[in-house]
Amino acid sequence: MTGMGRRRFMEIAGGGSLAAPLTGAPTPVRVGMIGIGRRGTGLLRILLNIPGVQVPAVCDTNADNLAAAAAAVERKGQKPPEQYGGSQEAFRKLLARDDLQAVVIATPWEWHAPMAVAAMKAGKYAGVEVPAAITLEECWQLVNTSEQTGLPCMLLENDCFGDGALMALNLVEQGVLGEIVHCEGGYQHDIRAGILRAGQLSWRARHALKRNGDLYPTHPAGPMAWWSGINRGDRFAYLTSTASKSRGINHYIKKTMAPTIRTPI
Ligand SMILES: NC(=O)c1ccc[n+]([C@@H]2O[C@H](COP(=O)([O-])OP(=O)(O)OC[C@H]3O[C@@H](n4cnc5c(N)ncnc54)[C@H](O)[C@@H]3O)[C@@H](O)[C@H]2O)c1
Repeated sequence: MTGMGRRRFMEIAGGGSLAAPLTGAPTPVRVGMIGIGRRGTGLLRILLNIPGVQVPAVCDTNADNLAAAAAAVERKGQKPPEQYGGSQEAFRKLLARDDLQAVVIATPWEWHAPMAVAAMKAGKYAGVEVPAAITLEECWQLVNTSEQTGLPCMLLENDCFGDGALMALNLVEQGVLGEIVHCEGGYQHDIRAGILRAGQLSWRARHALKRNGDLYPTHPAGPMAWWSGINRGDRFAYLTSTASKSRGINHYIKKTMAPTIRTPI
């Protein structure tokens, strides 16, 4: 954590109380988890390993994932968290609690902006997995809600904090690379395991069925923006997205699912 510092973050997240750290007993930061599948499980593990962070509430529509998350919290010696499930809208009950300062959202993409907006409106800091929004309208909803509520919404773009990205940032900041005039990157990653789950098209695959383009741009764009001073004095003037014909994944799905496909993909 740069700039603010962990102690200051804990103070602010703890309700702005500066008194508690002086007594030597920092106020715990209480975080709710929404969406505890593959990624959410990893994020929950990270949260539970940060001293002073408590997870009193977890939410998932999948009962098995919900139970596993609650068990993970208990294994860390924390009180059994309240479980919110059974409906796509159960997260609203979690957000209605008055004991949470922040929520971490790791659900399918279509839920990110609605959940982050609802979290800020409920007075909680929102940490949301990538991509934070899937339409321009949703991007504006996030900006407007953050400005109206005065609460930040953090895009959990972890690639900014990878060793390589931070090394490059350090080189840039030390002036070793001179003025940065061009960056190039991409989402060069085998996502077959995320496209088919248990032999079925996943929620992620359904996003790609009718749209071709870079649906996951922030892994490369986040670090590059940091290196080139975007939103730190510079800004994106315009964005374009280009994609080749979707052949690889199309071929993989047809080959893997051929016996079960009823409609053409
Ligand atoms: N930053 C990274 O490196 C990284 C890596 C992997 C995934 N992700 C992102 O994390 C997010 C989750 O991906 P995943 O692979 O864990 O998917 P997943 O399908 O394994 O997990 C999603 C979870 O959300 C739950 N869910 C669905 N709708 C819900 C709702 N309305 N309320 C509560 N829970 C709900 C599902 O039951 C599931 O447990 C995606 O946005 C993905 O793009 C980021």
